[in-house]
Amino acid sequence: MKLLTGLVAALASFTAIVASPVENERMVEPRQGRLQQVTNFGANPSNVKMFIYVPTRLAANPAIIVAVHYCTGTAQAYFNGSPYARLADQKGFIVIYPESPYGGTCWDVSSRQTLTHNGTGNSNSIANMVYYTIGRYNADPTKVFVTGTSSGAMMTNVLAATYPDVFAAGIVYSGVPAGCFVSSSGAVNGWNSTCANGQSRTTAGHWAQIVRDMYPGYDGPRPRMQIYHGSADTTLAAPNYQETIKQWAGVFGYNPDSPESTQQNTPQNGYTTSTYGDHLVGIYGQGVGHSVPIRGDDDMRFFGL
Ligand SMILES: *[C@@H]1O[C@H](CO)[C@@H](O)[C@H](O)[C@H]1NC(C)=O
Ligand SMILES: *[C@@H]1O[C@H](CO)[C@@H](O)[C@H](O)[C@H]1NC(C)=O
Repeated sequence: MKLLTGLVAALASFTAIVASPVENERMVEPRQGRLQQVTNFGANPSNVKMFIYVPTRLAANPAIIVAVHYCTGTAQAYFNGSPYARLADQKGFIVIYPESPYGGTCWDVSSRQTLTHNGTGNSNSIANMVYYTIGRYNADPTKVFVTGTSSGAMMTNVLAATYPDVFAAGIVYSGVPAGCFVSSSGAVNGWNSTCANGQSRTTAGHWAQIVRDMYPGYDGPRPRMQIYHGSADTTLAAPNYQETIKQWAGVFGYNPDSPESTQQNTPQNGYTTSTYGDHLVGIYGQGVGHSVPIRGDDDMRFFGL
């Protein structure tokens, strides 16, 4: 018994010795060049997990991309399945991969909390990850970007609407307009079939008001937006493309029915690129389903990286 107690104590102290440098490293100096969880990023009112990728060769005053996963996804899955970490290695920016706290790992894009600036929802937790990263790595606050796929694309629109002062640009891969998934009962992480089926349609002016109401009183600059959607999307029906275009066109004062320019078969065969103005580009993939494949190099150009 005594021997066993001693052995356990010895093992415990051995574990402590072995564990402490790892713990210290995690607390003080997150290891660069690998995906890493950050647990101490500040207020996290909706329990979103934060993962970060800091490339080994980090730029001075690096840019930040927030890359938001799809339902059933994880930070690790989006790290593996999207091109942003590889691009970070080339260009020296930081990637934040938030991870949904809910079963099924969709994002809360339905509650009043998440649809409000500093409203204690998922959007608030993710904005706090950005503030932490700017401070910790001396990142450039004018070069913070957001992108995501599906539920992550919905969150991209929500972050652009709730934190227009944080994000310089957003790229939406197969989402719905900000506020389209709103729950009439206030449900957190609710599914909204009306919106998903493409039946939530309103005017550009009304969609824009929905955005402005997420941060009342804000009258500063807003992020440039690029919207991808596929015509054959059966998860978030195709009308969500035009509704999202209407939303941001309304915000920026563009005519959603009359782009400045339209290029067929751009950026690839079957896609049409419509430019509404400096702040809004739509890219519609004919016959493309859910979700549109990520175009990493094009994303870098849109973000100016
Ligand atoms: C939102 O929260 C941030 C961080 O706490 C703070 O700096 C900012 O002033 C808040 N926004 C408003 C409008 O109060
Ligand atoms: C679904 O969203 C629409 C707006 O897109 C809203 O009018 C409707 O109330 C929502 N449905 C439910 C059941 O919450």
